[in-house]
Amino acid sequence: MSKERSHGIIIDKVSRDLMIIRYDDTTTKYFEALWEIPEGVTYNAYLLVDDDATILFDSWKKGLENDFLNALSSVIDIRDLDYVVIHHMESDHSGSIKALYEKNPDITFIGHPMTNKLLRSLYGISPRFRAVKDGEILSTRNYQLMFIHVPWLHWPETMVTYIPQIKTLLTCDVFGAYTIPKSVFIEDLSDEYVFSMRKYFANIIGFYRDNVIKNLDKVLTITKGDIEIIAPAHGAVIKGDLVRKAIDLYREFALKTPVNRKIVVAYSSMYGFVDGIMNHVTQVLSDWGFNVSSYRFTDKERAGIGDLIGDANNALGIVLGISTYDTEPFPLMDYVINLLIKKLRGGKPILLITDYGWGDVVLKHVKARLEKAGFTVIDAISVNGVPTKDDLNKIDIALQSFKQAMTQ
Ligand code: FEO
Repeated sequence: MSKERSHGIIIDKVSRDLMIIRYDDTTTKYFEALWEIPEGVTYNAYLLVDDDATILFDSWKKGLENDFLNALSSVIDIRDLDYVVIHHMESDHSGSIKALYEKNPDITFIGHPMTNKLLRSLYGISPRFRAVKDGEILSTRNYQLMFIHVPWLHWPETMVTYIPQIKTLLTCDVFGAYTIPKSVFIEDLSDEYVFSMRKYFANIIGFYRDNVIKNLDKVLTITKGDIEIIAPAHGAVIKGDLVRKAIDLYREFALKTPVNRKIVVAYSSMYGFVDGIMNHVTQVLSDWGFNVSSYRFTDKERAGIGDLIGDANNALGIVLGISTYDTEPFPLMDYVINLLIKKLRGGKPILLITDYGWGDVVLKHVKARLEKAGFTVIDAISVNGVPTKDDLNKIDIALQSFKQAMTQ
């Protein structure tokens, strides 16, 4: 197998006859046209070349078809490709499928029964298609590929492939991360890398978190936990002792387990009023030994909302400071609240502080929305402009209750 690294493309061996064909995307600014990713992202396809069959797993983002075909052609003749396994039809992985089909109409595409319909609707093609049942096996001379359905991680048609001969699990989005790792394999699940994994999880899979544990347990039962390599479609390949650690982390992400005495403080401040209040809040929480992650929306700073949602996923609690705008929450905070509700789905204590000029119209509305979504609003305080002594007193009392709720 060849090893190549050029113009953000890596082709390298993963295990025996399995190789990675990776694209390092440094130009997409907003993943899914939504999430800020200054750290970049990779698209990892994998290729298994056995004596009697050549099998590709996934591809790259739509728009990179020519790059993908060129990269693949540097390793095999595309006319020799027998199967393409489609783990998931979102176009950051299925983007080159139509081009592959046009190059080689004899390819058999393999996927969940729902995938065939998506091939028609997303790409207008009806290739040779083999719908695989949950647990179905494709045997080649030296390998058995077991396809395991993992519905709603994060689409209904998602599946993973387990190859017992190399103890490898190909997982597509699951165990993926933003960022562009220096090498194919991650050497350590550093805080920085875990941040990227958690951010990817919360942004992309968070809404479907209830399915994570169920599917993880299912995969571990079927594979008997005999996994030495996890090969995701974004970020680094994970191997050895890090596999167990990554699985534990994924449970932690799904369950929103608090880590590191972390509190996320997120706020908007148009003219500095909320900023002053939140500086006080941050100081008090830091003095109590909490680690505060701050996300600000001001005239000088605009926080990364993808980072915020990822960080909040495993926070002990969240403090929201919201300025009033056109009788509603400041638009960016309104957006943050919507995403917290959608991606975290409750389960965290929240301290809510709003600030208004001429009308106290936001607090009740936001509080009700958060509570309905399953968050525990420990206290909700509205301040009229500059906080008075009485306001600061109320905030200090609320902070005490917030602290109590988090340390119970
Ligand atoms: Fe990485 Fe759901 O696509």
